[in-house]
Amino acid sequence: MDTIWIVVIFISLYSSNSAHPSVPSIVVHEGQSAEISCLAKGNHDAYFWWKGEYLHNSTEIASFVRGTPSGPSGSYKATENGTLFIKKVSLNDEGKYICRVLSELSDCNGEILVYVKASIPDFALDIDLCDGDASCVIQITPSKSTMLTCQATDASPSMELKWFNGSSEITEGIESESPVMTGTSRVISATLNVAPECTGSLICQAVDTKTKDVSGKFAHVQLQLPGYFFLLKV
Ligand SMILES: *[C@@H]1O[C@H](CO)[C@@H](O)[C@H](O)[C@H]1NC(C)=O
Ligand SMILES: *[C@@H]1O[C@H](CO)[C@@H](O)[C@H](O)[C@H]1NC(C)=O
Ligand SMILES: *[C@@H]1O[C@H](CO)[C@@H](O)[C@H](O)[C@H]1NC(C)=O
Repeated sequence: MDTIWIVVIFISLYSSNSAHPSVPSIVVHEGQSAEISCLAKGNHDAYFWWKGEYLHNSTEIASFVRGTPSGPSGSYKATENGTLFIKKVSLNDEGKYICRVLSELSDCNGEILVYVKASIPDFALDIDLCDGDASCVIQITPSKSTMLTCQATDASPSMELKWFNGSSEITEGIESESPVMTGTSRVISATLNVAPECTGSLICQAVDTKTKDVSGKFAHVQLQLPGYFFLLKV
């Protein structure tokens, strides 16, 4: 008499919020490594990872069969417990993944949606007269013009600096030096020549010329004539 074993396997996958309520999802970060779990209880002979909308026409990206990682070589690797390891996440890694778990008596699969959060370049922004602070108040010499240099370190190739007086962009009296590479760091700067007696709240911001995004980072300088009392707006 044959005994029929019914093997129940639970595949639980990391889940977070999702646009497809039935499919779990995970958010990974561009440029970093990522681990996508395919948890299945018990011992399994093989794990397969596929990428694509549907199993029948998706692409195999990695597998772990009888103790040995296999499958196409590349940035994906399946590990002993079925976890998919992505060495360096790129924007192309976004999409649906299917994990298939195989053992003698069972064959089942689970799906997970992977969203890639694009990396925001980390850079430093400062104004020379502020001595490294993000914000400062400077008393100007009334009869002299003031030179303010804003500098971004570790700037992305598409980054450019802009000066604002309050909320209006300053377009005159700015000199942008050619980018300088110090090691792997790209340094850009923009020097504003402020005419004598000109005061105000001046802001330097980094703008991405490709996406037109204004970064959240800015440097601020308040120019004052000596002998005046100002109420600082917060
Ligand atoms: C995969 O198959 C589905 C239908 O089963 C189809 O809608 C989809 O376009 C196919 N995708 C690719 C990449 O061929
Ligand atoms: C699976 O293995 C990876 C490393 O190979 C490890 O980081 C991960 O925590 C493991 N997951 C479980 C559930 O054991
Ligand atoms: C900023 O704008 C104000 C008027 O809106 C002007 O009085 C001031 O001189 C400007 N400052 C600079 C540095 O351009």
